[in-house]
Amino acid sequence: MEENDSTQITLNQLQVHVKDLQKWQVSEDFAKQIENFTALPALYRHALNELENKIDIIKTEWQARDGYSPIEHIKSRIKEPKSILHKMERKGHEFTLDNMEQHIHDIAGMRIVCAFVKDIYRLVDHLCAREDLRVLEIKDYIAHPKPNGYQSLHLIVAMPLVLLEGTRWVKAEIQLRTLAMDFWASMEHILYYKFDKQLPSHVAEELKEAARAADELDQKMLRLRREILELAERPSEE
Ligand code: GTP
Ligand code: MG
Repeated sequence: MEENDSTQITLNQLQVHVKDLQKWQVSEDFAKQIENFTALPALYRHALNELENKIDIIKTEWQARDGYSPIEHIKSRIKEPKSILHKMERKGHEFTLDNMEQHIHDIAGMRIVCAFVKDIYRLVDHLCAREDLRVLEIKDYIAHPKPNGYQSLHLIVAMPLVLLEGTRWVKAEIQLRTLAMDFWASMEHILYYKFDKQLPSHVAEELKEAARAADELDQKMLRLRREILELAERPSEE
C-alpha cells in the first residue's frame, strides 16, 4: 500500500464533494470545472476498457483464423496526475482542462507486445481501417529508431465514448513493440531511472549496440519462423 493512501481522496468521495459544492458559495462555473475534472480519470478508464475489449476480439479472431494470435500481451495504464502536471509544465501549457485534453495524448496508454514486427504492421493496418476508432498520429520508431536505439511504433488514437451528455472522443496512446524491443526499452528504463545526467559516450554506444542486437534477434526469429512454416507445409517424405 502506498504511503499517502490515507490522505488520498477517491473519485467517489470527490463526486460527493462536488454535490456539496452547490451548498457552498462557489460560482456555477467553478463547480462545473471541478465536476469535469473529477469525471476525467473515469472517462479515460472507460476508453481503455473499450480499447482492451477491441484488442481481445482481434486476438480471438486472429487465433481462430490463423491458428495463432500475433498479440503476445497488452498492458494499459492511466497516467499519474503528477506526471500529467510535469508534462504540461515541460510543454509550457497553462494547466487547464482544455489544454490537458488537447495536448496530453497519453493520459490513457496501452502497450501491445507482438511476437513479430510483421504482426505490428498488420495490426496497425487493421486499426487504421476500423470505423470505431480514428488514428490521429503514427510515429514509426521501428523504421526510424530514436538516436539512442529505441524502437516501437506509437499511435495516437481517438475513440468515441457514448455518454449521457452525447458522444465524446477520447484520446489514447498505443505503443506497439516486439518482445525484443520491449526487453530493450524496459531495461533502458531501469538503467536510466533516476539518472538525469548525460550518459558517458561508451555507455550510450553499448546501449545502442544492445538495441541493434535486439533488432537482429527479431529478424532471426522471423527467418526461423518462415523456415519452420515452410517445413510444415512440405509433404512428408514417407
Ligand atoms: P512525450 O512528451 O514524452 O510524450 O514525447 P513525445 O510525444 O515526443 O513522445 P514519444 O512518442 O517519442 O514517446 C512517448 C513514450 O514512448 C514515452 O513516454 C515512453 O513511454 C516511450 N519512449 C519514448 N522514447 C523512449 C526511449 O528512448 N526509451 C524508452 N524506454 N521509452 C521511450
Ligand atoms: Mg507522447
